[in-house]
Amino acid sequence: MDIEDKIKELQRRNREAELGGGEERIAQQHAKGKMTARERIDYLLDKGSFQEIDKFVVHQCHDFGMEKKKIPGDGVVTGYGTINGRLTFVFSQDFTVFGGSLSGPFGQKVCKIMDLAMKNGAPIIGLNDSGGARIQEGVVSLGSYGEIFKRNVWASGVVPQISVIMGPCAGGAVYSPALTDFIIMVKRTSNMFITGPQVIKAVTHEEVTPEELGGAITHNTKSGVAHFSEDNDKAALDRVKQILSYLPQNYRESPPVVECTDDPNRKDPALNKVVPTNPKLPYDMKDIIRSVLDHHEFLEIHERYATNMIVGFGRLNGHVVGVVANQPRFLAGCLDIDASIKCARFVRMCDCFNIPLVTFVDVPGFLPGVNQEHGGIIKHGAKIIYAYCEATVPKITVITRKAYGGAYDVMSSKHHGGDINYAYPTAEIAVMGPEGAVNIVFRKEIAASDNPEETRKRLVEEYRNNFASPFKAAELGYIDEIIFPEDTRPKLISALMMLLNKRERIPERRHGNIPL
Ligand code: HXC
Repeated sequence: MDIEDKIKELQRRNREAELGGGEERIAQQHAKGKMTARERIDYLLDKGSFQEIDKFVVHQCHDFGMEKKKIPGDGVVTGYGTINGRLTFVFSQDFTVFGGSLSGPFGQKVCKIMDLAMKNGAPIIGLNDSGGARIQEGVVSLGSYGEIFKRNVWASGVVPQISVIMGPCAGGAVYSPALTDFIIMVKRTSNMFITGPQVIKAVTHEEVTPEELGGAITHNTKSGVAHFSEDNDKAALDRVKQILSYLPQNYRESPPVVECTDDPNRKDPALNKVVPTNPKLPYDMKDIIRSVLDHHEFLEIHERYATNMIVGFGRLNGHVVGVVANQPRFLAGCLDIDASIKCARFVRMCDCFNIPLVTFVDVPGFLPGVNQEHGGIIKHGAKIIYAYCEATVPKITVITRKAYGGAYDVMSSKHHGGDINYAYPTAEIAVMGPEGAVNIVFRKEIAASDNPEETRKRLVEEYRNNFASPFKAAELGYIDEIIFPEDTRPKLISALMMLLNKRERIPERRHGNIPL
């Protein structure tokens, strides 16, 4: 064989590998509205930047006649490239090859790029479209999954990990995405479940469709497993790029700073009226969030799950911040189990990746109810405390209205390490709401008075003026400044700029023991 023949041989083998499971299966993939593994990588990465690794890897299975069926690449395309010029590692499961099922060598390919990503401090993007463990490989496949899970854990908090679910993802296979920072699901074509509808029917006699059981909407609204749901593959891949624009490459770096063309001193007089005078009326906390962020841009995460809590990314003066906020429009902004989990996970993710936290507070307390108590609101609510107390990134808080009881403490209060704590003049900081407080403290006095209703009203008003205001907390230094709402953006930016070099250490330990 001369050199020309060798080059032709390489070209032929490359073409063969690039065809994956063949044209017929590629057509089937397209007919389902799905892109192929390679098309997804091409769309995700900067044009021409993809460098493939392990293109000719094949499985070593000799059972079930598998020795006659070998396809180069073995069902996963792996490598690295750039997204907006930044190094990114990617694996893309190829459903056209053995249903994207995971063999031993397939797992080793994924582990290889995960190791490279950790050593080189760059994000890992997993594009999932697979029938799970390759049945013919038995325990070899299970072992490979285990190796991937271990690396997911080791990479957690070291480099960002994003999973996109673009087809089936069943059984234990769901645990790799579940260990990553973000899960994006494609509507209609993707699903995630531990046991599928047939097994469920056999065991519990419940009938459910795959979509209802584990489709994008289910996991974005009910379970909270997924953070985003997108209409198609391209939209999901666009979302990956958008999320990465808010994240650093690894835990040693800060998120990218962009030039800010939105005036840092921009006031918004509309904010002076955003909190209604009647404390029982709701308002949309997102109006405040969008008003203060650069160019009013807010990337909401978990938008449809636990809607009484808002979390997401934005920028202030070009610097990325993680926004956490109670949402008075839903459950009056109460903290329940789901909201606690959503908040705590987001706060910890921001702390992993050096993202300062801005917290907007309007919270009447933890949600009362037998379901909540029996569901463990005590341990789940404790997660918020844990997350804020261990977070050493800059923490800025704005109390817009209610901050009652334990919920005052947990929402990034001074006592939990808030660096700068602001309050609007409309803030009510107290052990409980005026009605509840008066009914307990003045029960006898109200009962003994000639006109109990009048007396109650008077006492409620007195309590509101004296205690349910920000001034007591400001007198004690628990609130650093009571600000005019229109100044929220300039105030947040000046605090953030002051805190940019913040360094803080909490006591050394092996690792903490967060209530789970
Ligand atoms: C080997 C598989 C496979 C698998 C699919 N294929 N899943 N081969 N191992 N796990 C093959 C099929 O045999 C078929 O090959 C081709 O991929 C396409 O599959 P279809 O069934 O024709 O496609 P579709 O109708 O779209 O259905 C997709 C599917 C279904 C829903 C994923 O294939 C399915 O239910 N597969 C089994 C899923 C499963 O139970 N996996 C194990 C989960 S447990 P041919 O050549 O016939 O076209 C698990 C444990 C992980 O993963 C543990 C980690 C700790």
